[in-house]
Amino acid sequence: MKILVIGGGGREHGLVWKLKQSPRVEQIWCAPGNGGIAADAECVAIDPGDVAGLAAFAEKMQPDLTVVGPELPLVNGIGDAFRDRGWAIIGPSKQAAQLEGSKIFAKEFLQRHNIPNAKMYGALESAQDAYDALRNATFPVVIKADGLCAGKGVLVAHHLDEARGFIGRVMEKNELGAGGKRVLLEEAFEGDELSFIFLTDGKSYAPLVPTRDHKRVHDGNQGPNTGGMGAYSTDDLLPEPLRKTILATIVEPTLAGLAADGIPYQGFLYVGLMLTSSGPKVLEFNCRLGDPETQAIVARMDFDLADVLQDVASGNLLTSKLRWRPGASACVVLASGGYPGRFEMGKKIEGLTRAEQITGVKALHAGTQRVGDEIFTSGGRVLGVTSVAPTLGAALGSAYAAAEKIHFERMHYRRDIGRHASSLRASGN
Ligand code: AMP
Ligand code: GLY
Repeated sequence: MKILVIGGGGREHGLVWKLKQSPRVEQIWCAPGNGGIAADAECVAIDPGDVAGLAAFAEKMQPDLTVVGPELPLVNGIGDAFRDRGWAIIGPSKQAAQLEGSKIFAKEFLQRHNIPNAKMYGALESAQDAYDALRNATFPVVIKADGLCAGKGVLVAHHLDEARGFIGRVMEKNELGAGGKRVLLEEAFEGDELSFIFLTDGKSYAPLVPTRDHKRVHDGNQGPNTGGMGAYSTDDLLPEPLRKTILATIVEPTLAGLAADGIPYQGFLYVGLMLTSSGPKVLEFNCRLGDPETQAIVARMDFDLADVLQDVASGNLLTSKLRWRPGASACVVLASGGYPGRFEMGKKIEGLTRAEQITGVKALHAGTQRVGDEIFTSGGRVLGVTSVAPTLGAALGSAYAAAEKIHFERMHYRRDIGRHASSLRASGN
């Protein structure tokens, strides 16, 4: 098989790394890839949002399968563009990608199909309407820019001033661009978050192992939101009764709702959940795999990913093929100084080889660039040090031991990935 992977982050390095392990894969291209992917695939300099450019490349190279990492090409319609030409691709249509591309579309979908979600205080088209709607909201209130905003479009506001300030920046000053033309106001939930991602060919579905992301930049969930500073996976995240509830009240109604609305869905569907005292509730849908959740997920895959994805593209997902390593995995993100604000780049990275000598560890690259034999930083999230082990404690131990061997100027990372899970277990909960 010849495979085209679209994207250039840690998620895509995880996909490429896993796909390359398949005996049936002979060639992988990655657009645009990064400094680590370059060792495993042929990187091609095409922007992931450039559907026409990607189609022209596929026309020329004729990949047997295209796997889409990020949301932008999906929201821009790459799923339709490729399928219309008869090319196998993993990812939903432009219409289905609206589940991520428009939070108001997703909210209306959740309401229409009675899927547990946060009470909405309003979907607003102007700043004035949004200020007015705040009067009927209970604080804390969650304000969400409707469109894609690269992870910066959501604020949990505790005070009126904070809420008004965000609405002003998003709707009056247009700081987030077109994604902020409309906003959604909703009830704030409390609880632990869970990333529940499943793979579907439109008929059958297979849940991936559960993961938990760590979105805030600092330990103890402090500081601003990021794309994700680390993730872990263990089956303990999803006790059987909770799994049953999620499937019965969320996943199956979502698939039935898509079918009822005449929206076929093929690819990965990421359900961002809050586990509240009154059960799991949907915070968001993403029309793709998560980053860094994917790094923790691929580490536990015990099946041929290329084979399974080929089945999905042809509408023949065999769920029994998805087998998982027992135990746990962890991914610790090493970030550039300043991230998630303005960050520095071009720093030389050292210690990668020594880090990967630790059993079960793989340093998945995100914002890196190869220059000759050396690797330099080129993004905010630089590396996802990923490990797999029989227990979560062991997976975290080796990921952190590896992180300590890596160095670049002003590197920072969270020291408490997965710690909440261990304290939960220690207290018997
Ligand atoms: P979203 O992009 O909708 O997942 O929002 C990003 C993050 O904002 C989530 O991972 C949560 O941490 C937080 N969030 C979103 N919606 C809510 C909500 N209704 N209540 C509390 N936190 C939320
Ligand atoms: N890690 C969260 C996301 O991929 O959206």
